[in-house]
Amino acid sequence: MKALVLAGGRGTRLRPLTHTTAKQLIPVANKPIIHFVMEQISSSGIKDIGIIISPETGDSIKESVGNGSRWSADITYILQEQPGGLAHAVRTARDFLGESPFLMFLGDNLIQGGVGELVRDFISGSCDSIIQLKKVKDPCQFGVAVLGPENQVLKLVEKPKEPPSDLALVGIYLFKPEIHDAIDRITPSWRGELEITDAIQKMMEMGHRVEARVLAGWWLDTGKKDDILEANRVVLDEYACRVVCGNIDDSSEIVGRVCISPGAVIKNSVVRGPAVIGDNVRISDSFVGPYTAIGKDSALERVGIEHSVIMENCQLYDVEMLEDSLIGCNAKVVRSDSRRRICRLFIGDDSEVAL
Ligand code: TTP
Repeated sequence: MKALVLAGGRGTRLRPLTHTTAKQLIPVANKPIIHFVMEQISSSGIKDIGIIISPETGDSIKESVGNGSRWSADITYILQEQPGGLAHAVRTARDFLGESPFLMFLGDNLIQGGVGELVRDFISGSCDSIIQLKKVKDPCQFGVAVLGPENQVLKLVEKPKEPPSDLALVGIYLFKPEIHDAIDRITPSWRGELEITDAIQKMMEMGHRVEARVLAGWWLDTGKKDDILEANRVVLDEYACRVVCGNIDDSSEIVGRVCISPGAVIKNSVVRGPAVIGDNVRISDSFVGPYTAIGKDSALERVGIEHSVIMENCQLYDVEMLEDSLIGCNAKVVRSDSRRRICRLFIGDDSEVAL
């Protein structure tokens, strides 16, 4: 059994962050999303893992994930020259996959509880594919499945105007090598991509059995800003532990499940969990509220912040209250003049500022 992680793509919905950072490397609770994916795959027992990368962000993915030894995995990087769609990514990985069955995992998706049970079910069963589904409120935005008896998938529809069910495809799939024949028989969709839903539909038309499992726990697809904040909230809620290291003065208060890295310095501030504070972060005269992750080397002075993700090496000074914010690496946010309500901005392409 092999695994294929998709870490290419355009990431247009997360611009401007994705001009400089691969979206799979955006941190949730101070850990890149793709590291959670690697953990989940490895703990399902699969160690032979291919990772699809793009020419733009491939090197940064390689640098972050490395040779996989951290997860006792062997990694093969596979370059997809163009983001031609999820089925195109599978086709690009054809040599790596050979005749092996495989788990395909989108590198920006997370699910509660991992994929161990799903993988075991697939190995012990006789179907040709299992897709993971989740009940959603707004099925129009997703690929949607219609199920028959005994978990059999009867039909898949991509972003339907009138959804035939509320079961959306989560970015986790198991395939036998029959999927490759199906991919060879499909053509690009209206958006010019080879769609994996079309390939699965084709598999069914070719007489192969496709089953589904409906996920009871959470599913996080981190494609947009609010999704990242929600992922950060859910992951901190579930995993944050109280580990208070660093240098904390007597006038500071650390409340609840707060993880503070050893090199952090906190003065005259309150940090209320669940929250995570990275290495070498300096916080003074500030309030850091629940569901906040502060990346390493960042500095906060006279700042209030909650429900936010601050990436590495940011500087935030004199900002009364920031919430629901996602701030990229090396950014600086400063109130220039507290008496006059003037803003001085230096903002890159595709940025968004809510004043
Ligand atoms: P998407 O989120 O569907 O696409 P995208 O990354 O291009 O983002 P956007 O829609 O905002 O432009 O991709 C899901 C995952 O699959 C993501 O981790 C990127 C990856 N992917 C590839 O590796 N190759 C591809 O050709 C595509 C389309 C996506």
